[in-house]
Amino acid sequence: ALRKWEGPNDLVLSPVCIRDPVSADLRQLEIGSVPRMGEPESDAALDAAVAAYDSGRGTWPVMTVEGRINCMEVFVRQMIAVKSKVVKTLLWEIGKSADDSAKEFDRTIDYIRQTIDALKDLDNRSSRFEVAEATIGQIRRTPLGVVLCMGPYNYPLNETFATLIPALLMGNTVVLKPPQYGALLFEPLLAAFHEAFPPGVVNIIYAPGALVVPRMLASGKVNVLALIGSSKVADQLKKRHPKSHRLRAILGLDAKNAAIVLPDADLDLTVTECLAGALSFNGQRCTALKMLIVHRSLVDRFLSRFCEALDNLKIGMPWEKNVKITPLPGLHRTAYMKEAIEDAVAKGARIVNDGGGAFSATLYKPAVIYPVSAGMKLYREEQFGPLVPVMAYDDIEEALEYVITSDHGQQVSIFGSDPATIGALVDPLVNQVCRVNLNSQCQRGPDVFPFAGRKDSAEGTLSVADALRAFSIRSMVAAKQTMENKE
Ligand code: G3H
Repeated sequence: ALRKWEGPNDLVLSPVCIRDPVSADLRQLEIGSVPRMGEPESDAALDAAVAAYDSGRGTWPVMTVEGRINCMEVFVRQMIAVKSKVVKTLLWEIGKSADDSAKEFDRTIDYIRQTIDALKDLDNRSSRFEVAEATIGQIRRTPLGVVLCMGPYNYPLNETFATLIPALLMGNTVVLKPPQYGALLFEPLLAAFHEAFPPGVVNIIYAPGALVVPRMLASGKVNVLALIGSSKVADQLKKRHPKSHRLRAILGLDAKNAAIVLPDADLDLTVTECLAGALSFNGQRCTALKMLIVHRSLVDRFLSRFCEALDNLKIGMPWEKNVKITPLPGLHRTAYMKEAIEDAVAKGARIVNDGGGAFSATLYKPAVIYPVSAGMKLYREEQFGPLVPVMAYDDIEEALEYVITSDHGQQVSIFGSDPATIGALVDPLVNQVCRVNLNSQCQRGPDVFPFAGRKDSAEGTLSVADALRAFSIRSMVAAKQTMENKE
C-alpha cells in the first residue's frame, strides 16, 4: 500500500528519463528524470487533494487569506532561489531561447505578486458588510474544491501557474499534471511546494496524461478542470466526468487569430507586428497570428517586406544569442508543418520565401504561404508552428466573414490608419472575439488584462483578478438587521 501522499519526492519509484527534444541531430541527450508514475500514484495524489480539502473543512480552505498569502510568499522566495535551474531546464525541455525562458520565469513571479495584490484588494472589498432591505450581508469569496490543473508545453511554467496560483490562493487544493514537454522543470520546485504549503494542498503527478487524467475525472472527485491546452483534449476529458457530479471547467484552448490589414496600413509597423505576432517562439503560442488577411492592393508589397524581415530572423539553437527561431519539440511537429504545406501547395498556394525546409530533424525554417483559401488545412487548422498563411481580400466583408465563421474566437488584430474605418470594425469584431488589437499583434499580456475566448477557444476568464474570481464562488453570511447589529 502507498504511504500518505506528500508529492512525488515522497516516493521511491524508478525514474523516467527525459530526453531533450531539441538537439540538432536528434541525439536526444538525457537531461534529467522524473519518477515513473501511473494509476496508483494518481489515485493517491487525488485522494490527498480530497483529504486536504476535506469538504471545505481542511486547514487550507479555512485558512485566512492572510495565511494563504504568507504561504505563497514563502513559495515565491524559494522559487526565486532556483531560478537558474528552472530557466535552464525550460530551455532544454521545450527549446525556448535563453532570453524567452528567463522572461517566462520573471513573468511568472510578477504574475504571482500581482495575484497576491489583487487578492488583498478583493478580500478588503469582500469583508465589508452590505445592507439591503433590512438585511446585513458579509460576502466572501469561497473555494470550489479540488482542482485538476494542467498547462501546455509552450508555457509549461507560466500557463500552469496561471491557473495553479489563483486556485491555491482562493483555498482550493490541487492535483497538478505537468505537460509531457515541461515536466522536468517542476523538479527544482518540489522543495518549494513542500516547504510553503500544508501536505496534500499541491500534488504533482508525473504520468502519461491519457493514462491518469481520464481516470481522475471519471472518479467524480475533481471539482474543477483547469486546462490550458487543446480544445480536442478538453472535449474528451469533460466527457469522462460522471454526469452525476458537477464539473466546472476553466479552459484556455485553441485559437486561430487573424490580422486584418487595411489598405492604408503603415507597412513598417504592420510587418514588424505581424512578424513577431506570427513567429515569436516559432508560432507556438495560442495568441499567435495564424492567418494574415491583407488588402489586395497591398499584398505584394506586404509579402516582399515580410519575407525580407523574416530573412533577418536568426535561426538556431535556444542557447545561441539573439536567436528567434528554435527547434520544435518532437518530430511530430515538423511532420505536421510539412503536411500542411504540401496540402496548401497541392491546392494552389505557394511558398513565398525560401522557407519550409528543415535544417535538421526539428529545426524548421518558417514558411510564408500564399494565397491560402477555403479547403486548405491552413485555412482553419491551428498550425501552432512556424507557418504564416496569407490571404488577400477585396471587400472588408470577406475579412470579417473569415472571423465570424471561425470556430475560434480568441483575438484579432486590425492594422490601418483611418480611425473611422478602424472604429467601424471594432464593434462587430469585439462581439466575435475577446480582444481586438489596434495596430498591434495579438497577445495575452499585460497579465492584469482579462484573458478569454469565445466559441471553441476558452471557457472562463483568466488573468490576475479574473482568475481569482474564476476559482471561487461569492458566498455570503446574511442576518436580519436589528437594533443590536445596526452599528
Ligand atoms: O499560448 C498561449 C499564451 O497564452 C500566449 O501568451 O501572448 O503572452 O505569448 P502570450
